[in-house]
Amino acid sequence: MKDPNAILAEMTLEEKAALCDGSDFWHLKGMEKYDIPVIMVCDGPHGLRKKDYEKKGSSLSASVPSISFPTAATTAASWDPELVYEMGQALGKKCLKEQVGVLLGPGVNMKRSPLCGRNFEYFAEDPELAGEMAAGFINGVQSMGVGTSLKHFAVNSQETRRMVVDSVVDERALREIYLRAFEIATKKAAPWTVMNSYNKINGYHGSENYHTQTEILRNEWGWNGVVVSDWGAVNKRVDGMKAGNDLEMPSSSGTGTAKIVEAVKNGELDEAVVDARALNVLMLMKKCVDGAKENYEYNDADDQPLARRIAAGCMVLMKNDGILPLDTPKKIAVIGALAKTPRYQGAGSSHIVPTQLDNAFDELAKLGVNAEYAQGYELTAKKAKNNDKLIAEAAQLAGKVDTAVVFIGLTDEYEAEGYDRTHMKLPDAHDKLVDAVVKANPNTIVVLAGGSPVEMPWNDSVKAVLNSYLGGQAGGGAVADILTGKVNPSGKLPETYPLVYADTPAVNNFPGNPATVEHRESIYIGYRYYEKAGQAVRYPFGHGLSYTTFKYSDIKLDKTDADENDEITVSFKVKNTGTVAGAEIAQLYVADKESTIFRPVKELKGFKKVFLEAGEEKEISIKLGKRAFAFWNVNANDWTVESGAFEILVGASSADIRLTAEVNIKAAQTEIPDYSKTAPVYYTGKVQDVPDNQYTAVLGRAIPAKDRDPAKPFSIEDNFEYCRTSKHGAKMYKLLDKLVPEGMAKGIALQTPFRDFISMSGGVFNDKMAEGLVTYLSDGKGGLRKIFSQIPKAIKGIGPLMKSI
Ligand code: BGC
Repeated sequence: MKDPNAILAEMTLEEKAALCDGSDFWHLKGMEKYDIPVIMVCDGPHGLRKKDYEKKGSSLSASVPSISFPTAATTAASWDPELVYEMGQALGKKCLKEQVGVLLGPGVNMKRSPLCGRNFEYFAEDPELAGEMAAGFINGVQSMGVGTSLKHFAVNSQETRRMVVDSVVDERALREIYLRAFEIATKKAAPWTVMNSYNKINGYHGSENYHTQTEILRNEWGWNGVVVSDWGAVNKRVDGMKAGNDLEMPSSSGTGTAKIVEAVKNGELDEAVVDARALNVLMLMKKCVDGAKENYEYNDADDQPLARRIAAGCMVLMKNDGILPLDTPKKIAVIGALAKTPRYQGAGSSHIVPTQLDNAFDELAKLGVNAEYAQGYELTAKKAKNNDKLIAEAAQLAGKVDTAVVFIGLTDEYEAEGYDRTHMKLPDAHDKLVDAVVKANPNTIVVLAGGSPVEMPWNDSVKAVLNSYLGGQAGGGAVADILTGKVNPSGKLPETYPLVYADTPAVNNFPGNPATVEHRESIYIGYRYYEKAGQAVRYPFGHGLSYTTFKYSDIKLDKTDADENDEITVSFKVKNTGTVAGAEIAQLYVADKESTIFRPVKELKGFKKVFLEAGEEKEISIKLGKRAFAFWNVNANDWTVESGAFEILVGASSADIRLTAEVNIKAAQTEIPDYSKTAPVYYTGKVQDVPDNQYTAVLGRAIPAKDRDPAKPFSIEDNFEYCRTSKHGAKMYKLLDKLVPEGMAKGIALQTPFRDFISMSGGVFNDKMAEGLVTYLSDGKGGLRKIFSQIPKAIKGIGPLMKSI
């Protein structure tokens, strides 16, 4: 492909505008005239979801088989950016083989609440960890000459009303928590694209947000790739262009292009903006063209051993009273349908058709475990009536063996894109099963599956808990490796496991109001909250056990008095004091001993996973720069360090600190915001209930209206939920609520703005129909007639649409 600048210079306004709009669901526009080939982008991120055009159905069901690695929630538990680099590399190769230019991931949103339906696709409750893992993954994929898309930018921590909700978040929490992982990943790995979120961020949709897309992402962080809209996340195309969005996906079927051209012609939009956006897209295309390989030979099915190694490097041994590894000659019962039908990924756009699928029962047998099996429960809620019988059978079997291994977890309907969980409990039958098995046999081990924390009421009564998360297609093998001791577990929790949902920081503000979700807890998510509020938890952030033991010693700082711009090196030793080889994840936290601004008790600022033979000792060094000590100062609009003493804490988890040291930092004199009088609750950490006046002080503006403005006429930006205040609206809402099944479909039907019916249907539901719908819902006349008049045209479009998605 020719030099992008040279191509741009030759292009007409219409061509440049067209380039900023996809050509269909999965392709960017090719332009023969300029020798620009069609480029394909595809979902992942833990595999490749490439539509199989030979097969019937959308790519959700009909995609080419791909290796399905563990999802991000799982890989984060490895705390091993090098491991996800390998995974990224493998996926990059798959993309080369399948001629895919950009893999749409990773997702780096914060796990603000355990209930977010898409938590399984996100890394952590801590931005430092999430950012480092994302950077490892991106570097791996892009090392193969294939692009990535860091998503969803930003503050997309829930699925409820994800397309319309306004994430109201104070600037400090935005910088320190919600943007930080994006910042680390863009700076360390330069993803070729960043994907907007659907939601608004402080009043502006992700794709129309100048502050996040231009001021921060490009101007401050110096990133220069393509900002692509999430699929259907473009609201007002011209506003989006001005704010920094380059590329609309999927194709707007020409409407977006026409709006851009018109806006330039009528002087509303400067053509220079279109030039800048089109140039970004051209540069991306050039990278894809340069990276592509013809007839690339690669069989990702051969990656099964890699997938197994990765999964085994992630799973977290949460509890072990010495019962694990299994004493294999003993009589063992494997209980629970998930042992034979594993849950290994979540539902939605990241769904991968795997090349093969392990299950723990068979893999245990291959390793010589001669276990008997009992189903324990039905996998789907529909057949739940059989559960009592299945539980009784399982308990009976457990009573006859030496050890019972019970596989439980969140089943398919619990975790998906498009809706959130409504509680933090496991399926009822799973909890009951554990109770019944423990009663029959105290030697019970639980293997837990799922992408997000659950309540574990039986925790104290079982002898061990292995959290397998969502292990990908080789997850069953990885579980078998760990249970038998073939692999020593080395994962640690990338999130806190609270005791019950009521203990969580956002409990009163999740999923929020009809129009907004207030992040009243500000910077206190995850362990930052539990520690500050003194709230006991089930398992702390960073926790994970091994079959060996580690001793930490000899912490040293290269300086104990430093200037804020100095780099400080912290070194310490970790020794494997047990009898088997293993890996330890050493974590470094920083605590500001005294501060004017409210701060968490401590924050993760570095970590290192180290592999040690039995008896081996290694020295670890971690460097800390200014940002390790700084907070976002809203007065200075900058990062500020408050002079004074900071504690450096090194440990095996956030609750298991083994070494401490202190450093005094001298910083420039800056005015530091003091909320001790205006918002004292933030100094106590008791932020589940923040009074309005204190939240206003931290937010720095009035709290926005919680509901859609009732005086505003309905428009295509509304959805059925918002329109139920009219007579026709109420009727339609009631009907859809009754007809559409619970879950993802219901969320989509009731909460998707009408503008998206146009873009996501490839124009089948056209703008005239949308206008008709809005008229009808506003109780106006002629709306339905307008819709029906378009139906013949729409029917013709259905076939091509189904072929393209
Ligand atoms: C999801 C994205 C995904 C895109 C394309 C959207 O609904 O939010 O994560 O990449 O669809 O499938």
